[in-house]
Amino acid sequence: MCGIVGYIGDKKATPILINGLLSLEYRGYDSAGIAVIQNNEICTFKDKGRVANLQKAPELNNLTSNIGIAHTRWATHGKPSKENSHPHLDNSNNFAVVHNGIIENYNELKEFLSSKGYKFLSETDTEVIPNLIHYYYTNEIFEGDKFLQAVKVATNKLKGSYAIEVISKLHPDRIIVVRKDSPLVIGTKATENFIASDIPAILSYTKDFYLLDDYEYAVVYKDHVQFFDNTLSEHSKPVKNIEWDATSAEKNGYEDYMLKEIYEQPNAILETIGTRLKLGENCCFDDIGITKEYLQKINKIYIVACGTAMHAGLVGKVALEKLTHIPTEVDIASEFRYRDPILNEKTLCIFISQSGETADTIAALKLSKSKGAKTLAISNVVGSSITREADYSIYTHAGPEIAVASTKAYTSQIVLLIILAIYFAENLQSTNSSVLNNLKNDILDLPTKLETVLTETENIKDFAKKVYNETDMYFLGRGTDYAVSMEGSLKLKEISYIHSESYAAGELKHGPIALIENGVTVIGILTNPDLVEKTISNIQEVVSRGAKTLIITNQNITNNNFDFVIDIPETNNLISPILSIVPLQLLAYYISKYKGLDVDKPRNLAKSVTVE
Ligand code: F6R
Repeated sequence: MCGIVGYIGDKKATPILINGLLSLEYRGYDSAGIAVIQNNEICTFKDKGRVANLQKAPELNNLTSNIGIAHTRWATHGKPSKENSHPHLDNSNNFAVVHNGIIENYNELKEFLSSKGYKFLSETDTEVIPNLIHYYYTNEIFEGDKFLQAVKVATNKLKGSYAIEVISKLHPDRIIVVRKDSPLVIGTKATENFIASDIPAILSYTKDFYLLDDYEYAVVYKDHVQFFDNTLSEHSKPVKNIEWDATSAEKNGYEDYMLKEIYEQPNAILETIGTRLKLGENCCFDDIGITKEYLQKINKIYIVACGTAMHAGLVGKVALEKLTHIPTEVDIASEFRYRDPILNEKTLCIFISQSGETADTIAALKLSKSKGAKTLAISNVVGSSITREADYSIYTHAGPEIAVASTKAYTSQIVLLIILAIYFAENLQSTNSSVLNNLKNDILDLPTKLETVLTETENIKDFAKKVYNETDMYFLGRGTDYAVSMEGSLKLKEISYIHSESYAAGELKHGPIALIENGVTVIGILTNPDLVEKTISNIQEVVSRGAKTLIITNQNITNNNFDFVIDIPETNNLISPILSIVPLQLLAYYISKYKGLDVDKPRNLAKSVTVE
């Protein structure tokens, strides 16, 4: 959480920093600030509130500096306030720092610095960093680059996670950056360099990027970048060319990123299928390097992720078990990492993360590796941390997802998991090829069927208008429909702040039905022909207790007791979540709009959860 930006080059830094912050606001937006070096002094401007608020400061127009760092905050230590906003300076105003992450031992470091006479102006963990740098810069004798060495010694004292940018008025020609468990990229051009928490923030300036590793230091000058490891030995680093184009990270006429991203799903699915699945051929994942011998050894699969990515895993589990017959479990990363899971070399652990930077998912991956399991990362971001940690990596090709609420990443993750399950099944010969061929046909039809689902938008909007003032909603389904109901419920609570819960339809009568009373909204997902009658019976039970119902179905439902029915195209039950989630995404979106909320930046949330 928190977004950081940096610029050094031949242009004015401020507009570039502000633009970068605007596109990083999804990572946090309770305060924002910038620091530049002007007339040999560090000038900072910061305030609580959004970047737009900061942007109004008339003083910003007077800044002509070509070097600066900037930050948009998601508060962890200390309330949103001007004092707690970044950048933070050391007591002598020589060093300015922006930081994304959490310094776990900041109290201890604060005590140490206080004993040396340092004063603290904020409640943040970050403020220890510039002061530590100052302390080591002035009190330790260094040979060579004093600035870099002071940053290194200071950051080696930090426990926790960090992506840090440091500028110094004593060294106005460079920005020093370092990361550990928090994302940071450097965009590069001939006479200017850009730093950001993620690629889209600076994609309009360059497509050439350096991806920094944990404990790696970069000294960023206007016309070159130097890289150092944790012993400060210098090394070179390849530039990575990023294929996304800048317009894909803009709204393109849509009112909000979330709506744009919902509508991008047919294309995201098409791109994710890519060349991995073709009719008449075996699925192709040979590039990732999983051998047939290893596949034959696997006796257990874990899918580990958080939030929406975990919900995609629930659908993947059904596909993997059905097609490969390998027992598969889905775990929440923050639980998995602390429950001492039983893992060995015959276990394959699959980690799903849109951003590839989620702290709990990365920690769970590291744990699995240390216990001897093989690890496979599924991410949407090339070169993200989980893909660099894992034994094998594959990518969804959903394009940049900017809205905090995940939509196109979820459906892309499901399609990729299912193609992977087919690939495993083909190699293991665990499922009849005609079953697999039918499924492949259905997958290839998904983009067209998604377009059909999107034509239901107006109907869903009508339903949203009827229910947006409600305080509670319930989502019901069985099998993969239950997995979708969990995701539908999460989308609703995230962006509309309506309390909602999802239940396996058969579980209702074991307790939750007590909550059903006249007028309450119940949303049923019915796409599994084998289970549809049973789910209908459960929904009848809520209808007879006065519930208002919305049904998402691809079955021919003759019962007309339901208030609203959205018909979606029929498809194989393993992939129906990719279609049935779309009306629920739209429902959450329009309810949020009717309530006048900020759809793309819901309260208390950030896109990338890089803290525990
Ligand atoms: C919900 C949402 C979150 C993320 C979760 C994991 O809409 O976006 O639940 O799915 O924080 O994020 P990634 O996939 O980046 O690991």
